Amino acid sequence: NTPVITIDGPSGSGKGTVSRILADKLGWHLLDSGAIYRVLALAAIHHGFAADDEESLVALAGALDVKFDVEEDPELTHIILEGEDVTMTIRTQEVANMASKVAALPRVREALLRRQRAFKDLPGLVADGRDMGTVVFTDAAAKVFLTASPEERARRRFEQLREKGIDAKIDQLITEIRERDERDTNRSVAPLCAAEGSLFIDSTNLTITEVVDQILEFAHG
Ligand code: CDP
Repeated sequence: NTPVITIDGPSGSGKGTVSRILADKLGWHLLDSGAIYRVLALAAIHHGFAADDEESLVALAGALDVKFDVEEDPELTHIILEGEDVTMTIRTQEVANMASKVAALPRVREALLRRQRAFKDLPGLVADGRDMGTVVFTDAAAKVFLTASPEERARRRFEQLREKGIDAKIDQLITEIRERDERDTNRSVAPLCAAEGSLFIDSTNLTITEVVDQILEFAHG
């Protein structure tokens, strides 16, 4: 039986970084499920589909030609959509907003289930997302819910963007984070919440290393 650690939480909680470090330390596979929603959102934008066009979006989700290339570059998983490297283009705010809209459609989520479960493979999987512990990998051995205050999450996003040379406005980031939290938490299907039996971590005042250590201790204990 393949062990799975699920890390769910809102945007900017540190999930992405923490999951990557955990997967590296354990030598396990990594599922960045948000990237799948982002790729779908980008493909939808390319096709000119509206965020509420469930019929077209479900068809698109089913046929999505996406590959996660971990071989090419040891530092970064490259995401390939229909042969095109979209690793960077899926990270824009426009794509994030579209992703959280398409992610609210029940049949779209359904259409992406099998694709996500296919990542579960020996020796193990760290799964990063919003519903990894509640829907996709309900039988995971260790489930974590990672969060932080909206202000701290916006500040982290601001730093990330600045490192990439992007000049964001902190107030606007806080507003966008609150809007996306609101949508992710209040949607009818797979709302963002802590799975039963999960370790709850508020990372507002914790370093990445402290978070990683707490999770490893929980998973081994
Ligand atoms: O990087 P960030 O945490 O801001 O977002 P992400 O993890 O890349 O996910 C983008 C959007 O996809 C989220 O706002 C969610 O609405 C959606 N998502 C989801 O519904 N379920 C998941 N398992 C992962 C992401």
